[in-house]
Order: sequence, then structure tokens, then C-alpha cells
Amino acid sequence: MNFNVIIAYSKNERGIGYKGQIPWHIPEDMRFFKKITTTTTDIHRKNAVIMGKNTFQSMLYKPLPNRINICISNSLINSNEWRTPNNTEILLFSSLEEALRFCSLPYNIYEIENVFVIGGEQLYKEALQHEKCNKLYCNEITLETEEPQIYDTFFPEINTDIFKVVQRETISDRVMSIYYERATGAAGTDAVGELDGGAAAFPSIING
Ligand SMILES: NC(=O)c1ccc[n+]([C@@H]2O[C@H](COP(=O)([O-])OP(=O)(O)OC[C@H]3O[C@@H](n4cnc5c(N)ncnc54)[C@H](OP(=O)(O)O)[C@@H]3O)[C@@H](O)[C@H]2O)c1
Repeated sequence: MNFNVIIAYSKNERGIGYKGQIPWHIPEDMRFFKKITTTTTDIHRKNAVIMGKNTFQSMLYKPLPNRINICISNSLINSNEWRTPNNTEILLFSSLEEALRFCSLPYNIYEIENVFVIGGEQLYKEALQHEKCNKLYCNEITLETEEPQIYDTFFPEINTDIFKVVQRETISDRVMSIYYERATGAAGTDAVGELDGGAAAFPSIING
């Protein structure tokens, strides 16, 4: 199935993180993220969010509410040194491909409507190269501070031969939202149930 990427990066440097955290706290950006990743056309279905291990750790292993949370990690699968709070559920896969295949299962009990890759840098790099990556929700952040901001993680350059800007919207004086769609080549639709072949992997489910 096709999937989407959602990101907030600093306008000039394309920085997305520093020391495991997002380097700003901008409520209107967070509201945008929540709205895009939770909204479904079918009220009985949910969206899935896929994140790398470092991003999940930065959320203190706390899954995002009202979304199917998926983490890509090899190390967490074999570790007992963490838990999600209050029996909340996280699905673990060892690769993005496995996670996408699981989301595509026609008999998937989770009834997933849309899939979003939500970071961080390592996962974005693979996602942007993936032929099923279809839409990019990019918020460009302009920080007010005079201090030069330091980043250690970045959002990759977008290949504008592949992704075209469809819409720009000013959310606030700090946030410019740019929405891209794949110009050609994203085969199929967003519909769940489109298998690409290969055996479906099943997740390690923690809690839930
Ligand atoms: N500004 C934003 O919108 C935004 C959004 C999200 C995150 N961030 C920031 O980004 C930073 C984290 O980025 P990051 O690059 O360090 O980490 P990351 O991508 O979140 O996680 C990296 C880890 O996830 C697993 N992983 C990621 N991609 C994989 C792949 N393609 N295949 C297999 N495993 C994969 C690996 O875990 P194992 O080693 O366990 O296998 C890898 O070590 C943090 O500062 C965070 O706050 C910013």
C-alpha cells in the first residue's frame, strides 16, 4: 500500500532533531501533525504511524493515542528493558518493508486506513526512496531565536523530479506547510489489501 511522510524541519538547515529531541515546541505544528495523522474518512478505521527506534525512545515509549503505532527496530525486539505505559500497544518490525506488508494485509484486524512514516532521519531516508511513498506533509519551521540552532539529525533533500508541490499554506509566522504528491509511479492506491508479494511478517506486539 502507498504511504505518506510527515515532517517538520528547520527552513534553512533542514534540521529535525538534536540529542534525541525535536528542537522546538510549536503547538500549531503539533496540532497539524495530530490532525493529519489521526483523521480518517471511515470512523471505524485508524491510521498507522511508523517510527524508528530513536524516535520511539524520544517519546519515552509512549504510543500516540488513536493511531496504530509501529516501531522499526531490531534491538528492541530482543530487549526486556523497556515497556509502554498502561498496557498501550506498540507493533514492532525489523524493517519498513515488513511493516508496510503487514499494514497491507486484507484481513488485518487493525483496519488501517492510511500509513504515515513519522521519523526520524534514518527512517525518512529509506521512506523517501521507497516507490510506495506517495505524499509528503512538510512543515518548514522558521525559528525566532537569534541563536544559531544546532542539529544532529536532518531531513533528506526531496527529489523534485519525483515529488511535486501541490499546496502551500501558511499556518503561522513560524510554520509554512508544504504538501507534495508523487508525480508518477506510485503504483496502485492507498487502499489496504494491495499485497506486493512476499510472506507477510507478523509483529512482536508489546502489551495491548
Ligand atoms: N522534526 C520532526 O518532525 C521529527 C520527527 C521524528 C523524529 N525527529 C527527531 O529525529 C531524531 C531521531 O532520528 P534518528 O535518525 O536518530 O533515529 P530513528 O530513525 O528514529 O531511529 C533509528 C533506529 O530505528 C531503526 N531503524 C530506522 N530506520 C530503519 C530502517 N530503514 N531499517 C531498519 N531499522 C531502522 C534502527 O533501530 P535498531 O538499531 O534497534 O535496529 C535505528 O537504529 C530525534 O532527535 C527525533 O526527535 C524529528
